Order: sequence, then structure tokens, then C-alpha cells
Amino acid sequence: MEKQQAREKIAELAEVLNQYNYEYHVLDNPSVPDAEYDEKMQELRNLEEAFPDLVTSESPTQRVGGEPLDAFQKIQHKVPMLSLGNAFSADDLRDFARRARQGTDDDITYVCELKIDGLAVSLMYEDGKFVQGATRGDGTTGEDITSNLRTIRSIPLSIKDNETIEVRGEAFMPHQSFLKLNEEREKHEAEPFANPRNAAAGSLRQLDPKIAASRNLDIFLYGVGEWESGQLTSHSERLEYLQELGFKTNPEWRKYETIDEVIEYVEYWENERPNLSYEIDGIVIKVDNLEQQDELGFTAKSPRWAIAYKFPAEEAITTLRGIELSVGRTGVITPTAVLDSVKVAGTTVKRASLHNEDLIREKDIRLGDTVVIKKAGDIIPEVVRAVKDKRTGDEKEFFMPDECPDCGSELVRLEEEVALRCINPSCPAQLKEGLIHFVSRDAMNIDGLGEKVIIQLFREKLIHTIADIYRLQRDDLLNLERMGDKSVSNLLGAIENSKANSLERLLFGLGIRFIGSKAARTLAANFETMKNLQQAAFDDILAIDEIGEKMADSIVRYFEEAEVKELIDELTALGVNMEYNGPKTEDIAVDSVFSGKTVVLTGKMESFTRKEAKEAIEQQGGTVTGSVSKKTDIVIAGEDAGSKLEKAQKLGVTVWNEEQLSEVLDW
Ligand code: IVH
Repeated sequence: MEKQQAREKIAELAEVLNQYNYEYHVLDNPSVPDAEYDEKMQELRNLEEAFPDLVTSESPTQRVGGEPLDAFQKIQHKVPMLSLGNAFSADDLRDFARRARQGTDDDITYVCELKIDGLAVSLMYEDGKFVQGATRGDGTTGEDITSNLRTIRSIPLSIKDNETIEVRGEAFMPHQSFLKLNEEREKHEAEPFANPRNAAAGSLRQLDPKIAASRNLDIFLYGVGEWESGQLTSHSERLEYLQELGFKTNPEWRKYETIDEVIEYVEYWENERPNLSYEIDGIVIKVDNLEQQDELGFTAKSPRWAIAYKFPAEEAITTLRGIELSVGRTGVITPTAVLDSVKVAGTTVKRASLHNEDLIREKDIRLGDTVVIKKAGDIIPEVVRAVKDKRTGDEKEFFMPDECPDCGSELVRLEEEVALRCINPSCPAQLKEGLIHFVSRDAMNIDGLGEKVIIQLFREKLIHTIADIYRLQRDDLLNLERMGDKSVSNLLGAIENSKANSLERLLFGLGIRFIGSKAARTLAANFETMKNLQQAAFDDILAIDEIGEKMADSIVRYFEEAEVKELIDELTALGVNMEYNGPKTEDIAVDSVFSGKTVVLTGKMESFTRKEAKEAIEQQGGTVTGSVSKKTDIVIAGEDAGSKLEKAQKLGVTVWNEEQLSEVLDW
């Protein structure tokens, strides 16, 4: 066959196969028997083999490809992937509606969607081609799992309109695939996955895409991230457009005008949930109109224009066999119930939280009791109460020990605290927990140095303090169980890279009492260097917005310790960065023209991209939103500005042209 002819035939086969694939995996409505699909696929494979330079990455033959990766690359989300606030009752939903109505002038239409219990992912398409897929991660930084996502057949490798768009949705494992997978695993004596969500997440975190390909994952798309040319004005239009582009959207979404109808939808799905072929853990309710979404905006963690209704926790009954004690990072002793294993909400539970001794007393929970346990969403299961009617008289009261179960020092109860603590600063259990915290995702984020490795290193006496992590040598690591050459190189690389982390990660990682990751960021942005913070007086720290007395006191006391000073000196000598690399507080100028202003960019600009303009405006304290409303302060209109400009003029919003923007930005 001539090359030109082959090219045409390949294009034709790819188109037909993509259509079959779409009908089968997205519409759930195949138009041809499997054999016909297989035959055409084989024809395409043969042609591509004969003309390898005609193979494109969008070809249906190229879903599972490439060599296994060494590690996942980190991806920065341009638009953060936020999570949602929770509602647990009809009253919570009414409160949400009330707050939304107060925050916007017009009536509200709600969109209700099923809350799919899977893994949030982002898919980037450039000029209609699927170029990158990522996990949500911590919302700001995710991992590049493109090659695994390509194996999900309901994800189109190319979309209509040559659109450049980032779409978001939930990857999940349907019940059927989950049952089949666990059956297989049990046959091979592999630990079965606890629930479909863990199975989906585990599959997408495999470095070899062949494994993900064998797991029969699926996806529903429910949102849009970055989308420069986006013109739509409502969430429901976006859902429809996603479907038009060839994405799989969940068909059960509905639009309602009143919160009572929303509550009815929630109640309906609470009953219908077992009849679905995939797991849902609640309902997501979103304000439909995008302008109203903009008006309502966000709290620190989640949008005010959406909420997740979580189905009530499922309960189960089992027997309390024992109580285990563990020592946390701050020395707090936590009792954990050891139970006869029982299934709750799709998971087998063998242990559950008992919180603290007072609670055990208050609830009069005894060893050997029949107990009710509950599991709410992703929160760890807890013991709710003892079923006293079932007592036989053999149950035994539980008493906390006087000594630390790990180091044997005397336990103390600090003033006003319910918890018992071990206050021995060299208690091995505390040191180990402190190390696990230090390397964790929101702290130094050292990949490959998870809990298991830390425990091994600790046991082998290779690390004792945080600084020891930076002293690890290749040979130390090679001697550990299950550590090959490659994983050792990766781990050493990850440790080395973490040295460059911005100060807030280190501050959070140190585990100073009351200093969470948000406070750590605030402190780092304000003090800029570790030295400044070490030298800061109580009042200097308290003067900072969002930092209270308890935090300020804790920081001052922490840095007074000689051991801390020594640790910081050691880390500095080992090359760990002690400076803040994020945006400076004074760079967010308070008196700039943009400070506190809501700005909309529209039309084409000559001398800068929309992204550059957006970043510059944000640097100056402005907020850039996508649509014009009464709350918009300035609309910057480039060439060919359309409906947004019209709307701004109608509402009397200040309009600037590109020149005015350049002047203000000094570009
Ligand atoms: S919207 C800012 N819609 O639930 C809006 N989320 O806490 C972000 N999820 O991280 C999410 N189904 O993983 C949305 N139909 C749906 C969803 C959904 C499942 C997950 C998602 C998100 C979490 C919200």
C-alpha cells in the first residue's frame, strides 16, 4: 500500500474505532459487536506496524504504552483543585441555601450531582488533544498520571472543536470491576482492596500503565479548570458542553429552583444508592450561575457556591477484644479499640478510635463489650457506644497505665487537658512519629520516605532526629529490606530536593505545637527567614494577622530550647533552605490600584497573555474572575471583546483598554 493511501486508511480506522469506543464506554450503547471492533483494531495495528511513522499518540492503539515510570512528576495546578464543605442534614442544606441567598441578589438555581466516591483528577487538552492528566494531590500540587489515565477508555484521547481546556472529574472503579479484582487478588493471596475508592487510587498510582489498564476504571467529568476561551455562563451549560465534547458525564444531575427540591433529590438517592453500579458517598449541590458563583467566592478551604451532602455514617456491631495504646508525635497516648473484624460501609474494620480515657469512662466501655462502631466517609471508624444489654458479667473495666507504653517514663496529664502524655523528649515513639510528620505531604513532602521506611530506618538506628534524614548514605539504604538501587537513588534524590523547600514546609514539619500548615505559611511569609522568626519576640509574632496568643507563645517557647537551636544549626549546615520562597507580603501592595478589586479580563491583548495579566493583577492584590457582575470593579477589554464588555457597559462598570493596563502595571 502506498503511504498516502495508508495515511487515509489509518485516519478512517481511527475515526471509526474512536466512535465505537465512545459508544461503548461513554454512551454505554455499542452499535457493533465486539468482534467487529477487534477486527478493525487489528487492521489498524497491522497498518501502523507497516508504517510506524504514521502512528499518532491519539491513535486508539496507543492507550497502553510506554515503559513503566520511575516516579510520578509533580504538577502545579494553575487553578487550585479545592474540596467542598460538608452538610450532614436537611438543616445544613437549608443553612447553605440561606448563606447563598444572602451573598447574591438574584434567585438561585441549584445543580445536584451524585458525589462519586473515587479520586479527583484533572485532564488537560491542548488543541483537542489529551496532553496531561493529574491527581488532585494537596489541591495545589498533584502528580502526573497521564499514562495511567490514558488507559481509561471513557477518556477521549482527542475532543471536538480542537478545544484547549482543562476538565475535572472523578476516576472510579465500578462495583463489578472491584469485585472481580478482589476475587483475583484473593486467588493470588494478595491483600484485597478495602473499597472501590482505595482500589481506584491504588490503580492510578501504579508506575506501570499496564496495571491500570487491567483494572477497568471509569470516569465522570463534572467541572472545568483552566479554560481561556470559556464563554459559558452556567455550570449546567458546562456539563452539557463537556458531554458535547465527548466526555462522560453522570446522567443523574438535575437542576432545581428550591432547596426543598434539592432535599428531595438527596433523600431519593439515599435510598437508591445501593442500586447504582458504582459507589457514591453523597450528593454535591452547586449554584448553577457562574456569575453568582463568582459573587459568592471562596472561604479559605472551599467554595461558598457548592456543598457536599454526605450520607450518614453506617453503623455496625462487633466485640471489643482489646485496647491498644499508641504514643503520638506530641506524646499524647491514644487508645485504639481492637475489634472482631466487621464490614461497615464497604470496608472491613478491625480497629477503631476510642479518643481518650475520659471518653471510655464516660461511655462506660469495657473490654469484651459488644460495641456499636461507625464509619463516616473517609474518617477513621470510631466506637460509638457499648450495648449494655448484651453484657454477660465477664467484661472488664479498662485502666490507662501510669507509664509510657513505649519508653516507660511516667505519664502526666497537663493542665486542662483530657489526654495523658509522655513528656520524655527522647521517647522513641514520639521521635518516630515526629519523623513521619516531617516527611509527610504538607510538610517536607519527601516521596519514597513513607511510614514504613521511616520505621525501618528508625529500627536500624539509621535515623534518630530530623537532621539524620539528611545524613543518610547510599550504603545505609541499600542494606534495608526491599530497597533496590533504583529506589535508593530515587529516595536520595527526593531527600536532596526537599532541601530547597520553602520555609513554611520546614516550619510545619518541625511539628511546633499549635502550628498547622496554614499558620506556618503565614509565619514564613511574614518573617521570611528562620533566623528572623527565631529572634522574634512574643509581641512581634502576635502582631501578625491570624496568629493568636497560644501560637505565639508556643513558637517563642519552642525556639528557646537549646536542642531546637542545635537542630536548626545542623539543618542549616546540611544545606536545608531556611528562607521563604513564596510571594512576599509586601509585594501584595496594599495601596495599589488593584488591591481588593475584582477584575475581569476579556478580549485579545497585544503585548501580554491573559495569564501574564492575571498574575500581575493578582500580585497587586486584585482578584481576577471570569464573568462580569455588579461586584466587578474593572473590566479590561482587549480587541474583539464581546458580551463581557457589553455587560460591563450595561452595568456601568469601569472599562479599561490594554494601554491603560500597561500603564498601571508599568509594562
Ligand atoms: S465538585 C470546587 N462534583 O468530592 C468543587 N466533586 O470535596 C470541587 N466529587 O474533591 C468538586 N463527585 O473528589 C464535585 N459531582 C462532583 C463530585 C465531586 C465527587 C469529589 C471530588 C472532590 C470532593 C469534594
